Amino acid sequence: MIEDGSKYFHEDVQYSDALKARLAQGVEMDSAKAMGQYLQDWCGGDLDIVDFGGGPGHYLPVIRSRYAKGRLSYKSVDIDATHVEFGKRHFAGQPDVEFCVGSVMTPEPHLARANCVVSANTLPHVPALAPLLACLRESKNIRYIVFRMLIGNECVQIKKHLRADHFEHLFDRDFQFNNIYSADYLAHGLGPDWALEIRPDIFDASRLEQHRLPEQETNPFYGNRVSRPVNGMIFKGDIYMPWKFVLGRRIA
Ligand SMILES: C[S@@+](CC[C@H](N)C(=O)[O-])C[C@H]1O[C@@H](n2cnc3c(N)ncnc32)[C@H](O)[C@@H]1O
Repeated sequence: MIEDGSKYFHEDVQYSDALKARLAQGVEMDSAKAMGQYLQDWCGGDLDIVDFGGGPGHYLPVIRSRYAKGRLSYKSVDIDATHVEFGKRHFAGQPDVEFCVGSVMTPEPHLARANCVVSANTLPHVPALAPLLACLRESKNIRYIVFRMLIGNECVQIKKHLRADHFEHLFDRDFQFNNIYSADYLAHGLGPDWALEIRPDIFDASRLEQHRLPEQETNPFYGNRVSRPVNGMIFKGDIYMPWKFVLGRRIA
């Protein structure tokens, strides 16, 4: 059976726990700060945000501290039920914060009350963007999108094999997508009612130089899943990761 590339998110408990720790400890990731900054620059008014792959909601405090143009509500939709439980406990008693087990591959049920869709570091890892783009095209209530994803001059599907020394079912199992899309593809999928801008990623190279996850201490091969800077570019294992921010606004 060919997997859809999401299994490792359920199995990578160390990574899942690292995101929860960032929330609990108030760690502001560079990409969360950039997300907050771009929301502030690009959007206006009250925002009802859906965050696909938002994990336990560790971006929310950062977004709240940066967005000053109106009220915020926030909903994280994630396939990892442990994130949803952790987020619900952390933000208990805050009616404008929601968590839901769900997938960006079936986005429609989550968007009815939203006017802004964000996603950071998740869209390269899902098998396809077509369901999300089709839904955004039709959902007239969605006014803004802000995505951190891999953008290039062409569309490239990358399957990274996640095991150092087991090669059975190569590229059918135990892989991670790291897919790159062109701005033209996004414009094609969203249709003429959307205006798009591609903006640079914002990160601190010296901070990224120090970036390690606990699993790397005992499993050196795990480093092929962790970002590192090379001459001002971000690499993960052998792959150059052209991270960008995609800003979209509905114009009709
Ligand atoms: C690389 S993490 C990024 C988390 C967070 N946005 C950040 O930037 O720190 C990807 C997240 O997306 C979730 N995820 C993976 N596939 C998904 C899908 N199809 N739909 C929704 N969430 C998904 C994972 O469980 C994980 O929490």
